Amino acid sequence: MPVSFERRHSSFFAEVAGVDLQKPLSDEDWQAIYDGFKKHAILLFRNQPLSDEQHVTFSERFGPVITATNYHWRTEKRRVHHQMADISNIDDDGSILPADDERRMHTLANRLWHTDNTFKYVPSRCSLLLAREVPGDSGDTEFADMRAAYDALAQEKKDEIEELVAEHSIVHSRKTMGYEDFTEGAKNELPPVPQVLVRHNIETGQKALYIASHASHVVGWPQEKGRALLDELLAHATQPQFVYRHRWRAGDLILWDNRCTMHRATEYDDLNARRDLQRTTVSDEINSVERRDAERRNAA
Ligand code: OGA
Ligand code: MN
Repeated sequence: MPVSFERRHSSFFAEVAGVDLQKPLSDEDWQAIYDGFKKHAILLFRNQPLSDEQHVTFSERFGPVITATNYHWRTEKRRVHHQMADISNIDDDGSILPADDERRMHTLANRLWHTDNTFKYVPSRCSLLLAREVPGDSGDTEFADMRAAYDALAQEKKDEIEELVAEHSIVHSRKTMGYEDFTEGAKNELPPVPQVLVRHNIETGQKALYIASHASHVVGWPQEKGRALLDELLAHATQPQFVYRHRWRAGDLILWDNRCTMHRATEYDDLNARRDLQRTTVSDEINSVERRDAERRNAA
């Protein structure tokens, strides 16, 4: 069966049929998937109960898979593969995390609109989130199309933001959630970083808004003015017409482009219902401001 795509939203997010990621991919199928990724920005593959190795191997087709670190919190324990982020409410012994466990805080922060790893100097190109166990009636993930959101801006707004750079920091986004308990080591390892506000994709020629809960202010602007602009853009980009809400089933794998979409987790009964997902994160090559400057030099 050839690879095919069925859109779940008018501007992005397609469900893929005709692929079994547990089997080796032919070159044609890989090319079709990659073209679909560029076009739709988010791809859903149903019924893919992959092993960790299969999950990592497929992710590596898109670029280098980062090694997940535990620097956000104090426990050294890892329940999942070293290249996976543990997106669950499950403890090492398989039980649901207690209410006061600090790992809960970081999962809660996923409920803020964001795109992964913009708080790192070299941010992420894409993420691949695989559902192992889900509540079935809640715990959806919402996605927003930042290309469509950019396109819908007034020309004056586009001109105003074209050259702007925002500062991103995980310490900032966690602070908005009331978490300020980072270790000094974690803070030193994750200083604030600059990212462009508008990303150009030279492969597709499209532009996208590039914002996230991690963005604290606009570089070179008074704090309040930059904050107001970021809040305005966030509110614009997450209007219902740009958003798709996904109800998970076990075995769903979602691949999203972190350069042109945002996402957030939604509520579920996390003290009683089990939700177990695991994510690989594929790194970009360079910082987004460096990339923009390099592309301009090449074009000149
Ligand atoms: C993530 C994330 C949202 C969710 O895995 O990067 O933000 O619904 N997940 O679990
Ligand atoms: Mn995320």
